[in-house]
Amino acid sequence: MEAIKRTKIVDVLKSKAFGTTVNVKGWVRTRRGSKQVNFITLNDGSTIHNVQIVVDVETWGEEFLKPITTGACISVNGILVESQGQGQEAEIQAREIQLYGTADSSAYPLQKKGHSFEFLREIAHLRPRTNTFGAIFRIRHHMAIAIHTFFHDRGFFYVHTPVITASDCEGAGQMFQVTTLNLYDLKKNEKGAIDYSTDFFGKQAGLTVSGQLEGELAAMALGAIYTFGPTFRAENSNTPRHLAEFWMVEPEVAFNEIADNMQLAEDFIKYCIQWALDHCMDDIQFLNKMVDKELIERLNFVLKQDFIRLPYTEGIKILEEAVANGHTFEYPVFWGADLASEHERYLVENHFKCPVILTDYPKEIKSFYMKQNDDGKTVRAMDVLFPKIGEIIGGSQREEDFEKLSLHAKEMGVPTKDIWWYLDTRRFGTAPHAGFGLGFERLLLFVTGMANIRDVIPFPRTPNNCEF
Ligand code: 4AD
Ligand code: MG
Repeated sequence: MEAIKRTKIVDVLKSKAFGTTVNVKGWVRTRRGSKQVNFITLNDGSTIHNVQIVVDVETWGEEFLKPITTGACISVNGILVESQGQGQEAEIQAREIQLYGTADSSAYPLQKKGHSFEFLREIAHLRPRTNTFGAIFRIRHHMAIAIHTFFHDRGFFYVHTPVITASDCEGAGQMFQVTTLNLYDLKKNEKGAIDYSTDFFGKQAGLTVSGQLEGELAAMALGAIYTFGPTFRAENSNTPRHLAEFWMVEPEVAFNEIADNMQLAEDFIKYCIQWALDHCMDDIQFLNKMVDKELIERLNFVLKQDFIRLPYTEGIKILEEAVANGHTFEYPVFWGADLASEHERYLVENHFKCPVILTDYPKEIKSFYMKQNDDGKTVRAMDVLFPKIGEIIGGSQREEDFEKLSLHAKEMGVPTKDIWWYLDTRRFGTAPHAGFGLGFERLLLFVTGMANIRDVIPFPRTPNNCEF
């Protein structure tokens, strides 16, 4: 076959160089046609759109064309011509075809008919070849670029915080343990506790649940930073919004207070949504048609809204009123209760019909590092609540006072001797500061209109699921 430089299908479809010879390579979506002429739709992942290859059957013979079935991989040299059919600008009249790999139709699980998302999860190694997952993973890439661009343009520095850590930032006891101890032969001390001094790090270690504590150290030197990396939580919650391994974006800014933090969160999310509309419209239009008919409308709607800022105490009043008026929730509503997703979504979807930033939560239900309000009861926490998602961001202004922070950590059972380095920032040049964490996959749920978080990460990790 003549060596011609490959053109990506995204560029072929935009090209107006009719009459020239091009090379495309990709995976066959379908082959159909008559005894005289066949049409192969080819996709190479560069765009949701396929290019149509027109094949004169007599030239190659049916035997040659037979193994070119759905899923096969081919390389085609051909002449770019203006398409006769509707909806496409350009198609290719094949001159040379090379078959890289067949995909036996009796074994290849992706056939023309639509498959359920549940089934596709079982073949996560092949699902990126479907239109829906191709679109999702292209959008995932663009959202990562949006995040870096947003912070870079505003003078934030990207900090790499450790994946392996000995401190449980959220104090929720959801850390996966990292050990090289022989589990068949664990040494215990006289109290029956495992002796971690002989473990790899000389102490108990685990996978990070948040990069925040180290992020704060960096913010107290570089001023404004963000982290963006894999995060692990061994919470046994089999919900459509929880993963055991997910990606979190965590900005942290010296001298910011809670109001600045809220504004940053609102600007940041809107920037990401606008970026998706500007860079991923083909894929979003596809998802709007096939997955969620209100997707584009919802994205534009959120861009136009000023997010409501609402203290927790006011939120509880609204929920209590709803209960008094006959609305039923699965979990009880009272001041001090941790809000469940049903409560968050009631506020956002039923009451305000707009994203809500809930602030000033009771200190007992939030983390030890949050700045305490003068009322002695609440902390300067903020959760950003979104339609269809619930909590998309969790953050706070941080307690910068050494005494208050140490005391609150002890009250909450956080072992302060393990975080001496964190407390040191409050001993040496402490300052007000604030930050938050955005769940990357929750943002992707919102931007793609998908309903299950397992469908916006290439290879989901959830309880009892670590395939691929
Ligand atoms: O609210 P969280 O637990 O906050 C923190 O970890 C803080 N240290 C962040 C900070 O202030 N720097 O988690 C932040 C966000 C949540 O709002 C949610 O979007 C996401 O992370 N998240 C999860 N996403 C998927 N699966 C899980 N199991 C998640 N847990 C939290
Ligand atoms: Mg949270």
